[in-house]
Amino acid sequence: MDTPPRRIVAIYPGSFDPITNGHLDLIRRGARLFDRLIVAVLRNQVKQPLFSTEERTEMLAEAVSGLPNVSVDSFDGLLVNYATSQNATVLLRGIRAVSDYEYELQMALMNRRLQPEIETVSLMSGDAYSFISSRLVKEVISLGGNIAGLVPPAVEARLKQRLHTSAL
Ligand code: PNS
Repeated sequence: MDTPPRRIVAIYPGSFDPITNGHLDLIRRGARLFDRLIVAVLRNQVKQPLFSTEERTEMLAEAVSGLPNVSVDSFDGLLVNYATSQNATVLLRGIRAVSDYEYELQMALMNRRLQPEIETVSLMSGDAYSFISSRLVKEVISLGGNIAGLVPPAVEARLKQRLHTSAL
């Protein structure tokens, strides 16, 4: 009897406060590598996010709507436990610069210690996106700078709307 082809489920975890075009580039590339990709928003963060989990999830879902093998979810607790609950065997992360490497290495090694069956796969950011971070995007727009092309247009609109109602 033939064994069914192995289907690889990957999790792309993060804060996504909010999603940037750098995240989106990684999601598109991850979607080509894995059978299924779950973009997972961390709930209950210590740092106070600008957007609620629901808002971040909504913005992500809108941005990935054209990618049939990508879904969006949220999680709390240990990432490896969430990954196991989704039958995922890969954690996808992006590395923009050397400065990201140390943190990413620490997380990958800790996650491997916690759950050796799950591998972290790190993709290098596209060169057009390596300087983009959610934190800088929020800072630039709050100071009146132009963020066109750095985040999806719907996210830019939400940021502008939020800027009118609160200080970023
Ligand atoms: O976008 P971020 O903020 O760099 O993402 C960090 C994230 C969500 C991947 C990380 O904080 C995480 O996995 N949190 C879940 C808690 C956990 O499992 N911690 C131990 C693993 S290092």
